Amino acid sequence: MKQYAKQFNPMTILAIETSCDETAIAILEAGRDYFSVRKSLIASQANIHAQYGGVVPEVAARTHITCIIPLIKKAIGERVPDVIAVSAGPGLITSLLVGVHTARALSYLYKKPLARINHIEGHIYASWLKKKGTGNMVEGRVKFPALALIVSGGHTELILMKNHGRYELIGKTLDDAAGEAFDKAAKILDLSYPGGPAIACRARKGNAQKAPLPIPMIDSKNYSFSFSGLKTAVLYRVRDLKKNGQYSPKMRDHLCASFQHSVVSVLVAKTISAAKEHTVSSVLLGGGVAANHSLRKNLAHAVSKMRPKPELIVSPLQYCTDNAAMIAVAAFFKVRKSVFASPIFCQADPLWDITNE
Ligand code: KG4
Ligand code: ZN
Repeated sequence: MKQYAKQFNPMTILAIETSCDETAIAILEAGRDYFSVRKSLIASQANIHAQYGGVVPEVAARTHITCIIPLIKKAIGERVPDVIAVSAGPGLITSLLVGVHTARALSYLYKKPLARINHIEGHIYASWLKKKGTGNMVEGRVKFPALALIVSGGHTELILMKNHGRYELIGKTLDDAAGEAFDKAAKILDLSYPGGPAIACRARKGNAQKAPLPIPMIDSKNYSFSFSGLKTAVLYRVRDLKKNGQYSPKMRDHLCASFQHSVVSVLVAKTISAAKEHTVSSVLLGGGVAANHSLRKNLAHAVSKMRPKPELIVSPLQYCTDNAAMIAVAAFFKVRKSVFASPIFCQADPLWDITNE
């Protein structure tokens, strides 16, 4: 910490995130006991992939290549950052390679240290960020042990965080991720990509009880999730309703409400059980699906009834979906411990498990 204070007070971290279909660049300014997001730029490819109903890896990688340098130039201007950070996995290998190789080149060229960040760890550290424009205290409100529910297009994980950098994976999906299930169900329901916001919007007008769907794994005595059967249940229900001439826009709203209810119910139930079993002091919610209003509301309600009551820290909306500010914050905590990667050997790892360094 002393070493950090001497070398980097204050410092700027340039963070790069290209693990899926967003090219994201952030500049974090950090002092001894604060950090603040100076820039958080995102070039979303959602419109490009919408025509295919999901992310096409080759298209994503090609788009990252054209976007990344102009976005970095826009973010840094004339100023050379003190640290380069990059999301090195998990994610799509072709997308990750663009960010990792750009970061390696910048680190080598500028002779600045390189921080290699796990994308899921980034989603966890979004909980240390406050809403745009406000200063961010280093320690924030998070108290350890903390339980993080990270729900995104590629992941559904319950992670016990004992301290900075100390993780235990206590539950995950056995098949589709929650966001992936939203996206696939949306496709079946002829809704646009990404499916999460599209389903959430229709769900507000529907009634879950008018089209009940199963709540997968709700009674299993573990912290595993499974969403692929739920998606298939939607597929068969739509097929049957269409056959009987009962598939109306209203019925689609009901199915959206029901689908969302099933996903949210199981996520909340397992998070609360795990929080109780591990007697955590904080519950963190992050990842793209954490933008879901129903999930935020129901988890807040369930946590508020716990005794003793842990602190619930939900990532600010703009830092739920993929962004580079969260990667910069994760990097900040690595820099404090002087944990750096080599610009020559830093590798992308599409399957990087957060419990491995
Ligand atoms: O974290 P993220 O941007 O990318 C990954 O790391 O995967 O998450 C994207 C996922 C998509 O599957 C999208 O449908 C979902 O987050 N999502 C939502 C909502 N907003 C985004 N799911 C449910 N409700 C939302 N409001
Ligand atoms: Zn993500």
